[in-house]
Amino acid sequence: MTGSLHGQVAVVTGASSGLGAHFARVLAAEGAAVALTARRLEMVEALAGELAGQGHRAMALRLDVADPHTIGPVFDEIEASLGPISILINNAGVSGDGMALDMSVEQFDQTFDVNVRGVYFAAQAAARRMLDSGVAERGDGRIVNIASVAAQTNLPGLSVYCASKAAVAMMTRVMAREWGRRGIAVNALGPGYIRSGINDTWFETEGGVAQMNRFPRRRLMQETDLDAALLMLAGPAGKAISGSLLIIDDGQTLPGGG
Ligand SMILES: NC(=O)c1ccc[n+]([C@@H]2O[C@H](COP(=O)([O-])OP(=O)(O)OC[C@H]3O[C@@H](n4cnc5c(N)ncnc54)[C@H](OP(=O)(O)O)[C@@H]3O)[C@@H](O)[C@H]2O)c1
Repeated sequence: MTGSLHGQVAVVTGASSGLGAHFARVLAAEGAAVALTARRLEMVEALAGELAGQGHRAMALRLDVADPHTIGPVFDEIEASLGPISILINNAGVSGDGMALDMSVEQFDQTFDVNVRGVYFAAQAAARRMLDSGVAERGDGRIVNIASVAAQTNLPGLSVYCASKAAVAMMTRVMAREWGRRGIAVNALGPGYIRSGINDTWFETEGGVAQMNRFPRRRLMQETDLDAALLMLAGPAGKAISGSLLIIDDGQTLPGGG
């Protein structure tokens, strides 16, 4: 690690487990002060304690992004403790799985409330603060929306999830266009399959194992496979990258056999 994020303040949503917890560790190791948010407060508190024990600046807060009116006040609390927010890793997400014929209105809404509306209003809350604090003017504002290969690939049983991640990819482009001149870079990171709370049970099933064996490298990715892309989009190197959907999937979505 090079300390390239020294002096930056990063917020990670959905930092209680899986990719979000990993992203928080990576950003802290690179020198950022990190605010860890999720609904399961005890888990983000434990991680913040771990990071503080390693000498990093870290704090934990409860945040349910499905309740958009609570996002601003939580971000204000973060700024009061750590300073102006310069990086948002908009990671909180749910899988909302189920076949389209069986999908209920409630499950559809629940998925969009977190994956689309939550991401949208967290980005808005972060951008407003980056503009007010001068972070954007300095050219340091970075918003990384966590999309998925599902933004571009049809995945049976995940119609709502795919639609939600396609929405994340498109909102990323428009936000990047609206906020680019004002010094905020907005990008989406689209990981392939990595074992986590969102898909753990699926990869225990025959169907899950069969799917993995159809990937060119017949394996799932590791969280660390995303580190370089995350740091590029969140750090100084991301200055001239804006409105991109960066797919990092170990070739999982390449068509064809082999
Ligand atoms: N794992 C993969 O293969 C993969 C691939 C592509 C994209 N992704 C994306 O990566 C992101 C993280 O997923 P993951 O794989 O790490 O799964 P995970 O372990 O289930 O983590 C999901 C995180 O989102 C949080 N979350 C869920 N609903 C929330 C809400 N209403 N408000 C705030 N936080 C909420 C959860 O925290 P709480 O329950 O504590 O709130 C948890 O920390 C998601 O956006 C997912 O779509 C994952």
